[in-house]
Formats: sequence, C-alpha cells, structure tokens
Amino acid sequence: MFAQISARYDLLNHLLSANIDRKWRKVVARKLHQLLPSGSTVLDVACGTGDLSIELFESANVSVIGADFCRPMLELAARKAPRISFVEADALALPFPDASFAAVTIAFGLRNLASVESGLRELRRVLKPGGWLAILEFSRPQRPGFRVLVEAYSQKLLPRIGGWISGSRSAYTYLPDSVSRFPDQARLAAMMRAESFANVAFEDLTGGVAALHIGQRG
Ligand SMILES: C[S@@+](CC[C@H](N)C(=O)[O-])C[C@H]1O[C@@H](n2cnc3c(N)ncnc32)[C@H](O)[C@@H]1O
Repeated sequence: MFAQISARYDLLNHLLSANIDRKWRKVVARKLHQLLPSGSTVLDVACGTGDLSIELFESANVSVIGADFCRPMLELAARKAPRISFVEADALALPFPDASFAAVTIAFGLRNLASVESGLRELRRVLKPGGWLAILEFSRPQRPGFRVLVEAYSQKLLPRIGGWISGSRSAYTYLPDSVSRFPDQARLAAMMRAESFANVAFEDLTGGVAALHIGQRG
C-alpha cells in the first residue's frame, strides 16, 4: 500500500494536514533535543520518506538511522537526505542488537504494525537502558465537538482527496479506519507501561488530533 502511494505521500501529508504534520515532527525533535546528549544516535522506525529523520538530524543535534520495510519510500528518503543512513527493515524484527540506541522514534507507524504490543517490545529491545521511545501518532481529540468535525473530515473528505491525488482510494480509507482502531492516549500510555516503559507521558497535539507519547527503558 505504501509503495503504491509513495510518489504522492509527502504532497498529500502536507496538503491533507494543512502543513500541521511538519509542526508535529518539530515537536518530536524539540523534545528529543531536550532529553538527549548531543551526538546521540536515534533510530527512526517506519521512517517512510524520511521527514522525521530529517527533522531530527537538522534540529535535534543527533545522528539518525531511518528504517522502513517499503523500498520505494526509502528511496525517496535517501534522495531527500543523502547524509542520513536508511535501512530496509521490519519494525517487528529490527536488524540491530539489543541496547543499540539512545532513542527510538516512530511517527505514524505504530498504528500500521500487525501488533502494537510486539512493536513496543521490539522498539524497547533496541533501546539502551535509560533510552527514550517517542511515538507520534494520530489520536483522539478531547473536545467532543472538535472530534466530530475531525472524524467527518477524515472519513468523508480525506479519502476523496487522497484517492484522487494518489490513485489509491483504499489507502486513504484505511487511514481513518486504522486511526479509529488505534488505542487512545490513555490506553497507549497504559500499553507502554505494560511493556515495562518507565516515565511514560503524553502530550496532545492540535487538540488531540495527534499525540506524542514518550517512555524510557528502565
Ligand atoms: C504513514 S507512513 C509514516 C512515515 C513517516 N514516519 C512519516 O512521519 O511520514 C507509515 C510507514 O510505516 C512503514 N511500515 C509499516 N509497517 C512497517 C513495518 N512492519 N516495518 C517497517 N516499516 C513499516 C510503511 O512502509 C510507511 O513508510
């Protein structure tokens, strides 16, 4: 599915979110800049076309490796950022030894994995003790009126625009469906704690349209 939409993926991200997706990735980079010593190495899992990897590299003062299992997405990422290493890898079986990274990020990727719990376990495995996981993902707007508006937009308008521009209506029907199945803010935080993450916290972005969760490997 991601290979099919890769050519129009960036355009549609920025268009469908009115560029707010860029601000959300900046929040992640700012947070990791606060948490990590400069020069730390961060693994950006499900990096897609590399937008978060690039934001981390440019503004969090860290080295970055991007990983994704979709080659056409990775090829676009490598073209955009030749100074970052991108590797083809499955988030559920990462080709890295235990305790390799000071931080692991995953933006709009966890929702797509066959099992969120297995994903959290694998991301934790490659973190150094004390390392941070940062998850940027769509979530639940808290205010009921705003939630109704966001749901109407993502279920009615977004599949039409996304389908028209990318040529894959199903990919942009899958998007709101997968968001509605994904755990809300509190539930995801509970799942992280259940997978032994410490200091779990989250912040809502744009009223909860998305959320940034962080947690530390003890
Ligand atoms: C919605 S895109 C997000 C891309 C990027 N992180 C961003 O912020 O734009 C989801 C990405 O997850 C990748 N993905 C989904 N399941 C994966 C898996 N099991 N292993 C690695 N990558 C995966 C897809 O190939 C796709 O590039």
